[in-house]
Amino acid sequence: MKTIDLRSDTVTLPTQAMREAIYHAELGDDVFGEDPTTNRLEKIAAERMGKEAAIMVASGTMGNLVSVLTHCRRGEEVILGDRSHMFLYEAGSMSAVGGIHPHTIANQPDGTIRLENIEAAIRGSNVHFPRSRLICLENTHNRCYGSALTPQYTESVAKLAADRGLCVHLDGARIFNAAVALGVDVKELARHADSVSFCLSKGLSSPVGSVICGRSQFIAEARRNRKVLGGGMRQSGIIAAAGIEALEQMVDRLAEDHENARRLAEGIARIPGLSLDLGKIYTNIVYFDMADKQFDAGTLVTQLAGRGVKVLQVGPGRLRAVTHYGISTEDIDLALVALNEAMTES
Ligand SMILES: Cc1ncc(COP(=O)(O)O)c(C=O)c1O
Repeated sequence: MKTIDLRSDTVTLPTQAMREAIYHAELGDDVFGEDPTTNRLEKIAAERMGKEAAIMVASGTMGNLVSVLTHCRRGEEVILGDRSHMFLYEAGSMSAVGGIHPHTIANQPDGTIRLENIEAAIRGSNVHFPRSRLICLENTHNRCYGSALTPQYTESVAKLAADRGLCVHLDGARIFNAAVALGVDVKELARHADSVSFCLSKGLSSPVGSVICGRSQFIAEARRNRKVLGGGMRQSGIIAAAGIEALEQMVDRLAEDHENARRLAEGIARIPGLSLDLGKIYTNIVYFDMADKQFDAGTLVTQLAGRGVKVLQVGPGRLRAVTHYGISTEDIDLALVALNEAMTES
């Protein structure tokens, strides 16, 4: 039986071209700055984001942590959304490793944080308070329906940050999904952030890796912090080779994943017993709910798995399905048949 794995876009496997690029990659010791393939990826990534420099790291979590460690000192504060990946799913790393204080404020359903709430959260000068140093945004926003933040919104947050002497870090794990969905150059989304990290290993299908982009001095300091975390890698061109393929070949096709997500969502909306807001389908992430809250979503997950379809349970009655490379329109239709059958049976 074929498996249709919709749990996450992190399950994507490398393309044939990536495997070949990995095989043929020119390599050196990247801790000495001598891996030509990693150097090339970092150059391409910086250019793509419109930043001076870039550094490859092992994961999105490491990209965010290295960025926060580079912006903030111990006892300083990061302002971020209460639904953000950095707050919810990164093992409390900024406080565990950096002694940095997360100050959460409400994310709106579209992934934004209200400017007035950010303004109110920024601390005044008082010996009792941690110093506010950094604002973090997430684009696209994973827990907020894969919504895309506009360049205008990011600019308004950056302006507020600059007025108050703070910096902005953008967790752009899926920033290329945002650029494709909004029809803008990714540079426009990154322009107003002091640092941006993005993942090669999600919709772009690389097996491993993320990249942080920013000013040269910031990236030089990030290189030191990556080393502190044990993230200095040697012949990392093995990873970077796939990353170059990802950036050059896998961005435009994300539109296909967005179309498939919409197709899936429209199908789910028609299935009795399931509920979904079609106004909240922005990119490749589909959240849906059991219409009857008494019905356990876990049972549905098990029944679907028995039919070869994997989705993720993210709450008592809430499920998530993510479209990605390797999932075709036909797979979406098969997944909808399985969902219909599972709901009829239960
Ligand atoms: C928005 C966002 N940021 C960061 C990450 C962390 O990436 P990684 O799993 O590579 O550490 C994820 C992972 O799903 C994510 O969705």
